[in-house]
Amino acid sequence: MNYTILLIGGGGREHAIAKAITDSPRCEKLYVAPGNAGTQSLAFNVTLDTGNFDTVAQFCESYHVDWIVVGPEQPLVDGIYDYFIDHKVKIIGPSKVAAMLEGSKSFAKAFMKKMNIPTAGYRAFTQETLQEGVNLLKSHPTPIVLKADGLAAGKGVLILEDRDEAIREFKSMLSGKFGVASQTVVVEEFLSGIEFSVFVATDGKEYVILPEAKDYKRIGEQDKGLNTGGMGAVSPVPFYDDAMKAKVIKQVIEPTIAGIQQEALDYTGFIFLGLISVDNNPYVIEYNCRMGDPETEVVFPRIKSDIVSLFEAMVDNTLDQYSLETKAETAVTVFSVSGGYPGAYDKGKEIDIPVDSDQCYYYHAGTKAIDSSVVTNGGRVIAATALANDLESAIQRAQEGAKALTFEGQYYRTDIGKDLLPYL
Ligand code: AMP
Ligand code: GLY
Repeated sequence: MNYTILLIGGGGREHAIAKAITDSPRCEKLYVAPGNAGTQSLAFNVTLDTGNFDTVAQFCESYHVDWIVVGPEQPLVDGIYDYFIDHKVKIIGPSKVAAMLEGSKSFAKAFMKKMNIPTAGYRAFTQETLQEGVNLLKSHPTPIVLKADGLAAGKGVLILEDRDEAIREFKSMLSGKFGVASQTVVVEEFLSGIEFSVFVATDGKEYVILPEAKDYKRIGEQDKGLNTGGMGAVSPVPFYDDAMKAKVIKQVIEPTIAGIQQEALDYTGFIFLGLISVDNNPYVIEYNCRMGDPETEVVFPRIKSDIVSLFEAMVDNTLDQYSLETKAETAVTVFSVSGGYPGAYDKGKEIDIPVDSDQCYYYHAGTKAIDSSVVTNGGRVIAATALANDLESAIQRAQEGAKALTFEGQYYRTDIGKDLLPYL
């Protein structure tokens, strides 16, 4: 059977997912809401209020949509899966409660504690227990990690060296610094190590492991400066060797899937495990209930298998019969961003985009097509993903790819992936 699919989202992640879907002969038609200039060249961009599930349902009925693939977390945390439970349309994404693994840090921590999954020690506090929290912080080892419980657009985590400052921030968070997201604050033990991400596709019982990745969050070289939505990524990750993989499966993935079953969570979708290696042991920093961005821009190009067949196996609960084929090549992506990002930046700058090739593919994020030209329409503009036989060549090719792209104010990091060369 072939499928008509609606993909929700408009970033580089969604362009990468759209590319994989439209590469499949089993995709009948793909709609992307809202999409960007990149998805527009592959599929049909549609303007839909995706926060209004009635509107989404009407669209799906009119256009005979079989599946909705949800890119970002918000619709999942808002319960899009639950809304469509009695509809013909199937959602690739977890239920509202299961999405709390991302939507509530305290929920995720309690889940991990219950399932004995390695993670930083923690306590959760509210206004009612503020004084207890302050007392804890007065003698807490530094650095101190404070996390807003709910979704805070990637800004809800503070890592502080100074106890007095941590106490001030803790109080300010509980008084609404991040709105309802920080009505509960998690105080966490600080873990020191190197981070990486592992992705799992599951139907809640069986699972398939996708290629792993490492992302680069800061605006500046050597990971200095302000946090961004992601400046680049690499897959595979050289220090994620067989021994580490075995530990991740046994200590993290297996108990996570067991917990999903034990708690009777409906989970047809992706689990993004944000991990940190501490003395060669994996700890979970966070769960996300979706694929990552920019990780998808290196993970999906390394998948050889038909992605529509993977979605089908997830929806039909036949993942036990599914085996995922991946490419041995290394993928590196380098994001070009608008000048000024992550602060204020201009939009509407015309972009000169080279033609895609087997060696370099341009995944659009903040772009918009106007007549026959493409202009910037966001902070993170286009990710240049290169594939090569080794990391060094992939790094170089991705740099060449980013350099060949031009728009006024363009900035990109020149060090993406270089920190991983010593691990080879
Ligand atoms: P999160 O939003 O939970 O992914 O946190 C954002 C970033 O903060 C992570 O990617 C880590 O770099 C850092 N972080 C979060 N929790 C910890 C922790 N317990 N120890 C050290 N770093 C952390
Ligand atoms: N790259 C991190 C995220 O997608 O949340």
